[in-house]
Amino acid sequence: MTYFSLKMRASEEDKHVSGGERIVEKENLEEVILELLNRPSSYDFLNIKVQKLKEIDYIEKSLDIKSYTFDNYLEANNFAISLLENAGIPRKISENYIWLLHTGAGELGNNMRGAMIVNLNGERLELDKSRGVRTTNVDFLNRKNIEKILLEKGFSLRTLDALALATKNLNHPDIIAEYCISDQQDYTTGYVAIKGLYNRISPLKKLNNPKGGRIYFVRNNTDIDKLYNYLQNKSFLIKDLGEIK
Ligand code: COA
Ligand code: AMP
Repeated sequence: MTYFSLKMRASEEDKHVSGGERIVEKENLEEVILELLNRPSSYDFLNIKVQKLKEIDYIEKSLDIKSYTFDNYLEANNFAISLLENAGIPRKISENYIWLLHTGAGELGNNMRGAMIVNLNGERLELDKSRGVRTTNVDFLNRKNIEKILLEKGFSLRTLDALALATKNLNHPDIIAEYCISDQQDYTTGYVAIKGLYNRISPLKKLNNPKGGRIYFVRNNTDIDKLYNYLQNKSFLIKDLGEIK
């Protein structure tokens, strides 16, 4: 089967406002291009990239999903930090970088354009600390079906995309966990992906905080060039949805 990667990004006043991607068969290209074109509500620049994929791998199932609600973002982060600690990520390290994300981990306190990579010694490994690394080239094989199930269960399209991204991340043997908060100030739900589970946590950040980002916690001997290559260039289709717990 031949697949095409479709990538859309849009910006307004030089600020990234929307991004999305799909992996589709040729006969679905037109329909999905239109879908992506209509995704941002406003923009002054929009780019759509179409690329034939040379190789594709499959992941059998997405991470399982579990949801948690807390009274406030401090309690929620305490829980997130405990989840990370249970997987061997020292509390001090996760705390430090999580708070950095909440205050702007990029240059001059801006948001990064991708994820931070942190090892168990607490070292940041990104090649460019303002850019970070972006996970791309991942989609669900039967996206419409999975979308329907998730929407029926009360999840959003955001969860669908983030679940795909986190599933590709945790499929790499050196990535132990991912922590994520959105950079949209009114979206306070975040997640910790760890040990096969996408833990959706509300509220993981303070309302009206425009800072957000992702941290990938990795093993100490991670080959950073190979990790970048995996995250940016290897293409995956996820065949099925994990359990909703
Ligand atoms: N945040 C901020 N800026 C971004 C960005 C993002 N998420 N994605 C792209 N940009 C901007 C940056 O300025 C970037 O320059 P940089 O590489 O120096 O940071 C510039 O756009 C070009 O980025 P590039 O990676 O070449 O864009 P692309 O056309 O290949 O599109 C996206 C990439 C937007 C599709 C991808 O980054 C992304 O975020 N995909 C979503 C992943 C996802 O949800 N997958 C699940 C699907 S089911
Ligand atoms: P979002 O989930 O789109 O709200 O993005 C939240 C933060 O995650 C952004 O501010 C970026 O720092 C980071 N990010 C965005 N897209 C990606 C990606 N494809 N891979 C890794 N990190 C990303």
